Amino acid sequence: LELENQTIELPVVTGTMGEQAIDITNLRKDSGFITLDSGYQNTGSCKSSITYIDGDKGILKYRGVNIEDLAANARFTEVAYFLVHGRFATPEEKSEFSQQLTENSMLHEDMIRFFHSVPPTAHPMSILSTMVNAMSVFYPQYFVDENDGDRYNIMASRLISKIRTIAAFSYKRSIGEPLVYPRHDLPYCSNFLNMMFDSPVKPYQIDPETERLLNMMLIIHADHEQNCSTSTVRLVGSSKVNPYSSVCAGICALWGPLHGGANQEVIEMLDLIHREKLPIKSVIEKSKDKNSGFKLSGFGHRVYRNFDPRMKILKKEARSYLSTRGLNDPLMHIALELEEAALKDDYFIERKLYPNVDFYSGILYRAMGFPTEMFTVLFAMGRMPGWIAQWKEMHDSIPFKIGRPRQIYTGPTDAKYPGN
Ligand code: MLT
Repeated sequence: LELENQTIELPVVTGTMGEQAIDITNLRKDSGFITLDSGYQNTGSCKSSITYIDGDKGILKYRGVNIEDLAANARFTEVAYFLVHGRFATPEEKSEFSQQLTENSMLHEDMIRFFHSVPPTAHPMSILSTMVNAMSVFYPQYFVDENDGDRYNIMASRLISKIRTIAAFSYKRSIGEPLVYPRHDLPYCSNFLNMMFDSPVKPYQIDPETERLLNMMLIIHADHEQNCSTSTVRLVGSSKVNPYSSVCAGICALWGPLHGGANQEVIEMLDLIHREKLPIKSVIEKSKDKNSGFKLSGFGHRVYRNFDPRMKILKKEARSYLSTRGLNDPLMHIALELEEAALKDDYFIERKLYPNVDFYSGILYRAMGFPTEMFTVLFAMGRMPGWIAQWKEMHDSIPFKIGRPRQIYTGPTDAKYPGN
């Protein structure tokens, strides 16, 4: 264990954390300062059976199923059910879930009124977080009987269904167009695309390829274990606040550029390189200089020391979507050149810095017609089932404890009140 540059040899000691015995010798050297605290079990060392990541090999699985299989073959709503309920739906459950998504797609009239009062300049993520929190106003009954399984099903369908309506409405408001209401005859992704892009001047034609891509993108964003937003959902939820407010906190966490907001940052960075005709070599050099203030957005990940498997899917799909549509996006060329140059550079090789999921997602979203401000909203839409599943897993944990990160006090201990 390294403490302020001193290396201390620890004897082999075992302690307990909740029910689980841990061996201190197994704590990674780079874990930072660690002390044992049983309250920490609900904050920093949660067990989970939802998402498996092997960052060294670049493997990602939801409940044991490879992300590649799900992305290529499943419907987003199937994966959502799988995450939220821990198993794939039977045909009857499938149609019941789909019915619930349809029934829950509309927003309460008072929620709709809100959209007419927000300034069009508002970022859709702020509208999204506000509206999701507002669901606790309109559906306050969640905790009347918290062991009621149906209540959980309804809450989950409500969040998964309404987030797409809120997302599309916030976009329509931002461009000053009338809201397009959800349709009962359309499946999840087409319904969303229709609410986003249908307009009185240009009726939207459902495009199967764009629908397939959106479905795939929502799937690959559906969960990613205990990251910033998901830990936030779990921690806030551990106070037993209602699930809407817990998820709202996760949306706020996701918004930041170091988390889900990175896909917006990547596009802005690529656009800057394009507009200012910055040579790739100089961009790479600048990104290595800590004092330059420039960061290569969309590169590196806390858990991957290899390719992010989601990035590989996105890169392949972006290439084929752009080429089949005859779209020559200069930002795609810049992204490919940046990736190639970085992966040949010792700095990136030694640090195992690879492009992550955010590096190519923005390029695809743009090609599909989404404006930059909507990128992180789309991330949140995809992540919704994961947040719900993680909230539920935390909520059902035994023993249940409110989360409370361990604090090490570093301030003064004998300061005096100076008086008036
Ligand atoms: C995610 O999908 O949430 C991001 O890759 C961030 C993370 O997992 O740390």
